[in-house]
Amino acid sequence: MIARISLIALVVAVVFGACMPATVFAQTPLKVGLILPMTGPMASTGKQVVAAVKLYVAEHGDVVAGRKIEVLLRDDANAAETTKRYAQELVTNDHAEILAGFGLTPLAFAAAPIATAAKVPMIIMSAGTFVIPQKSPYIIRTSFTLPQNTAPIAVWAAKHGIKKVFTLVADYAPGIDSETTFKAVFTANGGQIVGEARVPVQNPDYAPFVQKAKDSKPDALFIFVPSGEGAAVMKQYAERGLAKAGIKLIGPGDVTDDDILDSMGDAAIGTITSMDYSAAHASPENKAYVAAFEKANPGMRPNFMSVGGWDGMALIYEVLKKTNGSAEGDKFLAAAKGLSWMSPRGKITIDPNTRDIIQDEYIREVKRVNGHLWNVEFDHLPAVPPDGKF
Ligand code: DHB
Repeated sequence: MIARISLIALVVAVVFGACMPATVFAQTPLKVGLILPMTGPMASTGKQVVAAVKLYVAEHGDVVAGRKIEVLLRDDANAAETTKRYAQELVTNDHAEILAGFGLTPLAFAAAPIATAAKVPMIIMSAGTFVIPQKSPYIIRTSFTLPQNTAPIAVWAAKHGIKKVFTLVADYAPGIDSETTFKAVFTANGGQIVGEARVPVQNPDYAPFVQKAKDSKPDALFIFVPSGEGAAVMKQYAERGLAKAGIKLIGPGDVTDDDILDSMGDAAIGTITSMDYSAAHASPENKAYVAAFEKANPGMRPNFMSVGGWDGMALIYEVLKKTNGSAEGDKFLAAAKGLSWMSPRGKITIDPNTRDIIQDEYIREVKRVNGHLWNVEFDHLPAVPPDGKF
């Protein structure tokens, strides 16, 4: 009798024990710590990414592989110390299993050691400096790299009669990446750099630099400024009469950011850029994305930062389906490597070796269509690698 009872107890214990973790696991919400600049001069990036993250969850539901997704949003106001503190608190106190966002390169750099120590996946939805994924083995990027977005315009310019260029970039890591890539690729294709300037990121005054560029009489002015800064530099380009002097504006597409492009006025018309995303991209996926985004966010047009957020969520959902809901660092990374899916911008792939994004690039020209300014794509380069060497 005693033996029978203990056998039943044992069976119950084994069955219950075996079920317990799965039951508890399925009911535990999965917290995603989303850290972005929501206030201050870089707030447009945070707003775009958050709008896309919310739209993704609204369209795909907030439960994936049995786990309820809870997004915990933190505003770092573009202060790296704040990003770092929030990353630590989210992991330690809130038990976030994934960190995401990272609106600018210094913010991604600041949080990387925390992802490494906690073995937590860290999804770069915005920042673009090439070396970012090397800062932690738990980083995966769904945004873009500056070499990827810059090399195509360097080749295009050299092949389309632009011989002399003045380069003007924001003086921090992605600006240096963009400048270095442009100079190397443009000169390798026969172009000449006639002058260069690096503009401070804090309270930039573009006027003297744009004037210096004009005085060096280039065929084109190459510009990289972070998202949200394009209008200020475009104003100087217009006021100082560079277009009238026959100096074309070129660069990666950050300068003609869809978020603010329509407010830039006719000065922006004719600007030629290379970029991974345009709101005017004519695919069924993008038409549906832009329509849903604008419906959910009246008065806002999605830009290249928004698709980094959208695809960051797509990555999380696709990985969780493969891991049956586990976001455990090493499992998550293994499942993410090599994943490929259709984004509003075209097909994207997570490079299994670098954990960085491989994506199509487009050459675009700013045109007025039906009364509004758009980056109209006219050339297409498939599957450009993160180092921009296509
Ligand atoms: C970065 C920020 C931007 O706003 C941008 O357009 C490109 C790069 C960055 O800090 O990495």
